[in-house]
Amino acid sequence: MKKDRKHLSVSAIKDGTVIDHIPAEKLFNVISILGLDSIPNQITFGTNLESKKLGRKAIIKIADKFFKETEINKIALIAPTAKLNIIRDYEVVDKRQVEVPDEIIGIARCMNPKCITNNDSVITRFRVISKPRISLRCHYCEKITDQEHLEIL
Ligand code: CTP
Ligand code: ZN
Repeated sequence: MKKDRKHLSVSAIKDGTVIDHIPAEKLFNVISILGLDSIPNQITFGTNLESKKLGRKAIIKIADKFFKETEINKIALIAPTAKLNIIRDYEVVDKRQVEVPDEIIGIARCMNPKCITNNDSVITRFRVISKPRISLRCHYCEKITDQEHLEIL
């Protein structure tokens, strides 16, 4: 290991995923949308840590967990600055910036109460028309769901 691990704010993990560079105010949203409150894995997190880019950031370390693409897309919608680090045997073996895809299927709710997706069992589908500040256009009703009204399913 290259770095002096004595200076980690939250201790290192052996295997798993580190979600770094989460805006501090989004920490509990990320925990909730990933269902981290109800899995048996060891989880450590830190918040209001110093970050040059974000001012204050949060970090979540989940032992023995490797996220699927849909879960990574959820993280991207809530915390577009987040970086995923895959850890194997204490080493960072993969690092990637999360990215909001151009199309979102079944992850977010349409904010139009009259939309078919809120009244029938139709899976939601949106075009991403703005990022990183998210704006989604519903494929069915064409209404825009913006960042403030974004609700993750
Ligand atoms: N990390 C960890 N356990 C390990 C190795 C790394 O929890 N066994 C964490 C580090 O604490 C850090 C993140 O994974 O938060 C990424 O590690 P590293 O790439 O070494 O850190 P930085 O270079 O600071 O990352 P970045 O450039 O992405 O900020
Ligand atoms: Zn709609």
